[in-house]
Amino acid sequence: MAEPNGWTVLEEQFNPEQQHHSETIFTIGNGFLGTRGTFEELYPHEERSTFFHGVFDDVPIVFTELANTPDWLELEIVLAGERFELQRGEILEYQRTLDLRNAVLRRVVRWRSPNGHITRLSFARFASLADEHLAGVRVEISAENYAGSIKVRSGVNAGADNLGVKHWESLEQGGRGGTAWLHCQTRFTHIQLAMGIHLNIQTPHPLRRTTWDVCDRPCVQAKTTLKQGETLVVEKWAAFYTSRDRADPVAALKKKLASLPKLDWQNTFSAHCQAWQAEWDRCDVEIEGDEEAQLAIRFNLFHLLAAAPRHDEHVNIGAKTLSGYGYRGHAFWDTEIFMLPFFTYTRPEIARNLLSYRYHLLDGARHKAEQNGFRGAQYPWESAGTGEEVTPTWVPHYADPTQLIRIWTGDIEIHISADIAYAIWQYWLATGDEAFLLQRGAEVILETARFWVSRAEWAPDRKRYEYSNVIGPDEYHEHVDNNVFTNAMARWNIQTAIGLAERLQTSHPQVWKRLSRRIHLKTPEIQAWRKVADQIYVAYSPETGLIEQFDGFFQRQEVDLAGLEPRNRSVQELFGIEGTNQIQVLKQPDVLMLLYLLPDLFDEQTLRLNYACYTPRTDLTLGSSLGPSIQSIMAARVDRPLDAYETFIRAARADLFDVRGNAVDGIHGASAGGLWQAVVFGFAGLHRTDQGWKTNPHLPAHWQCLRFKIVDQGTVRVFEVKPQIGNLGRFLE
Ligand code: IFM
Repeated sequence: MAEPNGWTVLEEQFNPEQQHHSETIFTIGNGFLGTRGTFEELYPHEERSTFFHGVFDDVPIVFTELANTPDWLELEIVLAGERFELQRGEILEYQRTLDLRNAVLRRVVRWRSPNGHITRLSFARFASLADEHLAGVRVEISAENYAGSIKVRSGVNAGADNLGVKHWESLEQGGRGGTAWLHCQTRFTHIQLAMGIHLNIQTPHPLRRTTWDVCDRPCVQAKTTLKQGETLVVEKWAAFYTSRDRADPVAALKKKLASLPKLDWQNTFSAHCQAWQAEWDRCDVEIEGDEEAQLAIRFNLFHLLAAAPRHDEHVNIGAKTLSGYGYRGHAFWDTEIFMLPFFTYTRPEIARNLLSYRYHLLDGARHKAEQNGFRGAQYPWESAGTGEEVTPTWVPHYADPTQLIRIWTGDIEIHISADIAYAIWQYWLATGDEAFLLQRGAEVILETARFWVSRAEWAPDRKRYEYSNVIGPDEYHEHVDNNVFTNAMARWNIQTAIGLAERLQTSHPQVWKRLSRRIHLKTPEIQAWRKVADQIYVAYSPETGLIEQFDGFFQRQEVDLAGLEPRNRSVQELFGIEGTNQIQVLKQPDVLMLLYLLPDLFDEQTLRLNYACYTPRTDLTLGSSLGPSIQSIMAARVDRPLDAYETFIRAARADLFDVRGNAVDGIHGASAGGLWQAVVFGFAGLHRTDQGWKTNPHLPAHWQCLRFKIVDQGTVRVFEVKPQIGNLGRFLE
């Protein structure tokens, strides 16, 4: 799967059985759009899709989904009367590469047609990072053993659907002189899209180019001839604007289309490469001594960067980035807790955009709280365009689609509100971005605290506040009481809000005046918060040192998880939903997740005891993809280097090797972000304290060098560990 340069994902054979996996990992994107790695010339059963951030449309059951946009990629090639398609003829040579450094997907195919004509086709594709409204495909077509006519037909195709669900209605279309365009809108949300293409062609022979105004599929056909040994070059440019980013997307598109005939491939591609180079200058992680880890970390960071909105603070990154249908483009805590630290410490501008999305959708969260009878802001478990809850209530059963499963996460997986507040606080600590905190972040932290206070339940007999009927990070257990992660994060949220309010009152009285007036927050209310925070129950047994994940967890049945190996089904598939609820098996770290986020809550001995308790109880192989990276960090912290590496590699392979068999749904964005954290906060052992950074590296024994940059309060710093020369972890600049 890899070339030894550490930058190239390689596919040396086309395997139709794995085409959907390949489509996901070969997705390209530029933070505005993501296009799956399907072939230009189409292939049966492909999941052909391009998603644009924020272009959601309504749909039954899951409420809303990113609409698969009209296809800009398609390109039919007819060689001496035979259509080029890999399901026919014979593939003599094949190689596909994703060059992560330059974000370009290349494919070289030597193909023998059913009539015996051999053609070499070399494709290159990129979504420009220098100009996010532009993407290009270049094909070189060489006739090796024949002469004949060559026809290329390409356009934009509004026939795209979301696995059968149609989202687009056409408004107008047109084209001439090598250009074709389409103006359409989503059926329910009425987001307009203007999309067009232009074909630039270099041929040694006369060329006939015609525009076909086919309904919903305007395209350009170019016809020429090739002699044996000659090459034809086709450059397809595609441009896109939506009503989300332009008042008049058609006018913007027409202006752009007028510039495409003169667009030089090399210059445009170079600008794109430079933009990626700038990203890698800030974000790259270098690992010497482990080719697999080196490629995997870059692959995962590539996909995070490809999905990261750079010019839009009203969108988030869905759990599957922009690379598949999984979770319909909805955003979860995956962003704030798993992906965001990477952006906060390498590209804080992007982190700010992502957090601003939550700020802009505060009203949706307020609405959810109000609907549930609470105050403040309760963020939706799944979020899309409006900030309303979009978690489906029922979905088809994984084993028997005729049955429905009730999904409770949208109702009771409430920890996300604290996770968002936590991410804002971490962003502020890392960047010192006071303007963001004052103008946006503070309101989120205060309103989420208010939610937690109103949601807390006083238990008079136990004299404490509790949170009953919740789901913690471990979703194998539903309707539990006092999930310690939820309770402790709620307490943290309220305490942080109290501290913040005090700070604003003394250091920024004008800001406080405006903000407190706007959200009707007065001192007595804050005083009441303190009482609640002080009495929130956070389970801990001084006798055993154990933190019980929720009330009664240790009374549930024990299962020898190791004894179930080897297995290819998750524990939930083996025991059923209700059966899994009754056993001591976790889908992903829960108590350990808390100890990761709030390391000062308990001492080291408690961490070790709980690591030893919960690790053998966690379905790390087939539970949640969010588990292994966090587990790796905690293993590093308790000096279990082999376990740390094993779980790290599991996360590293999540998509490259499709270890859970669901890469078809898209890149596991949280796992990708968690991988970065496993390197930086696990192996490198970086740890922010009030006195500055502390380091405690735990490099895998075969790693000779680890180097990366982080932005610390606006200053870019290089961190390096090189054990062989006695460098056990230090900042170089
Ligand atoms: O947010 C996660 C959750 O923690 C586990 N199930 C999948 C969700 C989306 O990735």
